[in-house]
Amino acid sequence: PLITLRQLLDHAAEHGYGVPAFNVNNLEQLRAVMEAAVATDSPVIVQASAGARKYAGAAFIRHLILAAIEEWPQIPICMHQDHGTSPAVCQRSIQLGFSSVMMDGSLGEDGKTPMSYDYNVDVTRRTVEMAHACGVSVEGELGCLGSLETGMAGEEDGIGAEGKLDHSQLLTDPEEAAQFVKATGVDALAIAIGTSHGAYKFSRPPTGDVLAIQRIKEIHARIPGTHLVMHGSSSVPQDWLAIINQYGGDLGQTYGVPVEEIVEGIRHGVRKINIDTDLRMASTGTIRRYLAEHPKEFDPRKYLGETVKAMRGICAARYEAFGTAGQA
Ligand code: G3H
Ligand code: 13P
Ligand code: NA
Ligand code: ZN
Repeated sequence: PLITLRQLLDHAAEHGYGVPAFNVNNLEQLRAVMEAAVATDSPVIVQASAGARKYAGAAFIRHLILAAIEEWPQIPICMHQDHGTSPAVCQRSIQLGFSSVMMDGSLGEDGKTPMSYDYNVDVTRRTVEMAHACGVSVEGELGCLGSLETGMAGEEDGIGAEGKLDHSQLLTDPEEAAQFVKATGVDALAIAIGTSHGAYKFSRPPTGDVLAIQRIKEIHARIPGTHLVMHGSSSVPQDWLAIINQYGGDLGQTYGVPVEEIVEGIRHGVRKINIDTDLRMASTGTIRRYLAEHPKEFDPRKYLGETVKAMRGICAARYEAFGTAGQA
């Protein structure tokens, strides 16, 4: 059935697990997420960005997710809009049937300009008022995602602050988080704790401290009833990076957030973990390798079918690691 983010994350908090929120743009990604959820008995968050709604068409995204609910009625599914840039955008998604929306008021309507605390409170509070009246949950964001190393958001297209961020923007302030939640009434709060969007998160192999765990603990202690969200949570699998480059790709050396650090975050109140890049990498690596090894093949179902299997493997591994498995 369709459920809200609040329902799902309340259950996750009560039972101490986290839920990966996978970005979906097409049939293959959605089938991978769902087949892995069925195999591991996991509840699901699927999220669609503005780019996803533009790529597939809003009506297609809506009906793809409704089709998943119809095909797997036993699995609780939260249909979430990722990175809404205004209350109007969120309102359209509510009309489309999303059970949860993110109002990202940390950035302006262009998805690039860091905005003031007061602006963020205003757009988020208005979204909560509207969404809660419709039985829809709201995720807000306080702080700006970006590398603590470079101060850069690290995403060329899509959502990400333009220009260099200063240190105070890169780590959410616990006191401000408490004020923000009180002023807006959000169900979940995305926090800045050292992650960034996309494949290029860290230039050196992680040594066990890429996340600002201490900061997560402080925020969770201050707002224990608010579910924390980690964006930019792809682990950037080194095996898929190598396959992409082995079969003609040209990605630079780069590292993501280790799964063990995410699991540590889950111990301290992180409940929703956003993952897009890992599935993109598995899909691209699969297609590059398949076409190189099967030069006579021209049926897209062959290589797209292989991408479903590859993505499914990553989804199932995250469900197991985050404790989502067995909770559907
Ligand atoms: O927040 C970024 C997500 O990975 C979605 O990316 O805007 O390119 O669809 P996108
Ligand atoms: P990744 O780029 O790390 O997969 O993050 C995705 C995300 O945060 C979507 O909102
Ligand atoms: Na989101
Ligand atoms: Zn994000």
